[in-house]
Amino acid sequence: MVKAVVAGASGGIGQPLSLLLKLSPYIDELALYDVVNSPGVAADLSHISTKAKVTGYLPANDGLKGAMTGADVVVIPAGIPRKPGMTRDDLFNINAGIVRDLITGIAQYAPKAFVLIISNPVNSTVPIAAEVLKKHGVFDPTKLFGVTTLDVVRSETFTAAVLGESDPSAFKIPVIGGHSGDTIVPLLSLARPAVTISDSDRDALIKRIQFGGDEVVEAKEGKGSATLSMAHAGFRFVESILKAVAGETGIVENTYVYLPGIPGGSETKSDVAGLDFFSVPVELGADGAVKVQNIISSVSEYEKSLLEVAYKGLSTSIQKGVDFVVNAPESK
Ligand code: NAD
Ligand code: LMR
Repeated sequence: MVKAVVAGASGGIGQPLSLLLKLSPYIDELALYDVVNSPGVAADLSHISTKAKVTGYLPANDGLKGAMTGADVVVIPAGIPRKPGMTRDDLFNINAGIVRDLITGIAQYAPKAFVLIISNPVNSTVPIAAEVLKKHGVFDPTKLFGVTTLDVVRSETFTAAVLGESDPSAFKIPVIGGHSGDTIVPLLSLARPAVTISDSDRDALIKRIQFGGDEVVEAKEGKGSATLSMAHAGFRFVESILKAVAGETGIVENTYVYLPGIPGGSETKSDVAGLDFFSVPVELGADGAVKVQNIISSVSEYEKSLLEVAYKGLSTSIQKGVDFVVNAPESK
């Protein structure tokens, strides 16, 4: 029996993500939690003739407890999205508290669940989650993931477009670092099949992957950010987890994790300026992440210069997330 939970299920990402999860053969129970409309979304999805039993929860009547209890996987797309002109960090003031409170519920009612964080700024919300779980004595770094899959999806799509290839899914391109602007570092030198392009095309492609989120925010003209592509990316990651849980081996996803807590992560940490959190290719197992693949030593000189920029931005964002929990008035 596999129970999946979507926290923020009524939103722009939450609804299509919940739909995709309802269609998954790996899920027996799907609990939808939101501060609004989740019973309605659940009623709607429950008419679909697939096996997952769908339930909707609001905060009233211990809804967070009801949703989370018994969860194997919790995905969190709760929180506000950007409008044109905003950075992801501009979302911190509202989303930090939302993520903290949801993670507190997970710590209380589903401490063994895989936790996948979509809410921005991911570079800070994942450190927030780690600190809250630590505070409750239930932090398992092998089960906490920042979802950076959309950067990988974009790198496949945009690379195929530049090369005139018709099938973007033919590309495997690691994207490491964080999830915002120049903290996103696509490693085109390690792409499979190999990518051969001019330096100017490469620079433009890297920029497009790094700032792909802005394209959608601007096109939506104040009505939010990526939702459908994110639902696809989030589902792709959840499915990888569920396949690993079902016993499939050799599954690797790029994801933003707490490096010191995963085998192989400490070596990578020393290669990435001592940062605790970083997106890297991670091998997944039935009980959580089993190995960080250290690919930093294989990157090109050009990519090393991109990484130097990423380290600076990430260091600030990670500290901001940690401080939000550790230096909170009630923690002192
Ligand atoms: P949205 O406003 O459409 O939906 C957010 C949902 O969260 C709403 O239904 C809202 O009611 C709910 N919510 C708010 N507070 C909550 C709480 N305390 N508990 C449960 N639910 C709560 O926004 P969206 O477009 O779905 O985006 C959601 C988040 O995902 C944003 O922060 C956005 O920046 C982020 N995002 C991340 C990525 C990524 O690659 N990681 C990609 C796209 C968007
Ligand atoms: C994205 O990359 O599309 C998301 O992080 C949403 C955003 O704010 O751009």
